[in-house]
Amino acid sequence: MLKLILPLFFIIINVNAIEPISPIPIESIVDIKKAILGKKLFFDTLLSKDNSTACLSCHDVFNGGADSKIVSVGFENKKGNIQSPTVLNAKYNFRQFWNGRAANLLEQADGPMNNPLEHNMNPKAIEERLNNSDKYKKEFNEIYGVSRIKYELVLDAIVEFENSLTTPNSKFDKFLRQEVQLSPNEQEGYTIFKQLGCITCHNGVNIGANSFQKMGTFLEYDSNNTYPDRFAITKKENHKNVFKVPTLRNITLTAPYFHDGSAATLKEAIEIMAKYSLGRNFTNEEIEKIISFLETLKGEAPKILETF
Ligand code: HEC
Ligand code: HEC
Repeated sequence: MLKLILPLFFIIINVNAIEPISPIPIESIVDIKKAILGKKLFFDTLLSKDNSTACLSCHDVFNGGADSKIVSVGFENKKGNIQSPTVLNAKYNFRQFWNGRAANLLEQADGPMNNPLEHNMNPKAIEERLNNSDKYKKEFNEIYGVSRIKYELVLDAIVEFENSLTTPNSKFDKFLRQEVQLSPNEQEGYTIFKQLGCITCHNGVNIGANSFQKMGTFLEYDSNNTYPDRFAITKKENHKNVFKVPTLRNITLTAPYFHDGSAATLKEAIEIMAKYSLGRNFTNEEIEKIISFLETLKGEAPKILETF
């Protein structure tokens, strides 16, 4: 009898395994000491040339992990060249940056440190700064057993902090685990999202961030694009306006939207997506339902934000 009941039980609890979106693992395994050190570094303006800018300046981890500017502003208030993406759940991105030029978080973290528009530093300058701080020297010594702080260890700690920035237990993840039901509007929004094709690009654990796609598969989006897209790397004509599909987790918190920050609201972003990527218009009712669904993607704030 047990032999019969058990497989049935697994079939039942696995019903949602066929869903094209999977929940964020509840437990993330990180080295908590390194992550807390990484958090201090992420928050510290000491890592920028004029002590003005921290990673946190453009990635507000308490509020969606991005910033609310159209394009980010960094060192000496210089404007960056693209919208700031969220760092929350970035560990699940198949590549980093809008055009995927960094393979992982470690490669990525090296970017802003050296970017003249962001931290405007270099590895030597960062090592010098931190080795002048007794507080950091003591902490690196305790955690990494070194008497001199090396740049690689700074990146390592920051990456460990980023690995801890996951937002599990959203209503939608609980729905996937069959712990709660969606409201009729949320459920219908999800159905539209699947049936009308949003799901073809926004799927997997991050509901995006697992492929490169053209912005504007149906309608040319921006023929004079000067943003760093895939073309900037590959120089292939058909890679113009191709970007990493962004994650839709916590999407209600990260306006404005798109690489150029051109959509001020989620409603606008959905209208533009429908028009340029699906070649259709949605009714207001359909958009509202999709927004209801997208609201269920807001997860729990990462636990590490409560510790110091
Ligand atoms: C001046 C604003 C600014 C600062 C400071 C900054 N970033 Fe960013 N960050 C951005 C922008 C803009 C992008 C997107 C750049 C691109 O894709 O070309 C980005 C991209 C990222 C990404 C990739 C996310 C994704 O979805 O591809 C991560 C991770 C990240 N930053 C972490 C950091 C860390 C760690 C620091 C500190 C060492 C930092 N950032 C400092 C603005 C900033
Ligand atoms: C052909 C692939 C594709 C389809 C289909 C698609 N998207 Fe997107 N989506 C993208 C890409 C690529 C971007 C980034 C575009 C950019 O920034 O220029 C994006 C961006 C977004 C953004 C903004 C995210 C951010 O952080 O800025 C939202 C919201 C969004 N899509 C929702 C949807 C919805 C809702 C649908 C269905 C109506 C949909 N998408 C269909 C590929 C797609």
